[in-house]
Amino acid sequence: MELNKYIRDIQDFPKQGIIFKDITPLLSNPEAVNKCMELFIDNLKNKKIDKVVGVESRGFFFGMLLANRLNAGFIPVRKPNKLPYETISSSYALEYGTDTLEMHIDAIQQGERILIHDDVLATGGTAKAVCELVEKLGGEIVQCNFLMELSFLNGRQKINQYDIYSPLVY
Ligand code: PRP
Ligand code: MG
Repeated sequence: MELNKYIRDIQDFPKQGIIFKDITPLLSNPEAVNKCMELFIDNLKNKKIDKVVGVESRGFFFGMLLANRLNAGFIPVRKPNKLPYETISSSYALEYGTDTLEMHIDAIQQGERILIHDDVLATGGTAKAVCELVEKLGGEIVQCNFLMELSFLNGRQKINQYDIYSPLVY
């Protein structure tokens, strides 16, 4: 199955000059979602995962599905002031702007094996901030997982000490 055809290019969103990769056609097609899950799960064979960290908001879609399939817990990383309990935070530069991400302080136990999931690896700022949160709490990052990588933005360089997997590369 050609997953590419379920990713829609939107010109000048959210800003002039940016071509946004819209995953909603993929999300609305169950065969395409199943195909993505098959690729993710095949790639994770024999890699024990205790918890999946999903990044607000588009990392939540496959993040929760993956956690459930792997029989792992799910941890939401959220934008500021969304999580109700005590948090740790990490700031980062985005492809367009800057932002901060937060995680509950008790989300990860020392030594737990963590899979990080987000929809897109672009400049890598988001993923790097999430890696910092996970390691602050003593988690062991097994892999960073993305639905797609925008390789021309070199995000990989920011997280090159970790294994990275992405079925779609642009
Ligand atoms: C987008 C995307 C990734 C991140 C990638 O999220 O979903 O999380 O940017 O960019 P980077 O590699 O350059 O950091 P965004 O912050 O736009 O929010 P959303 O997921 O809530 O739409
Ligand atoms: Mg996002």
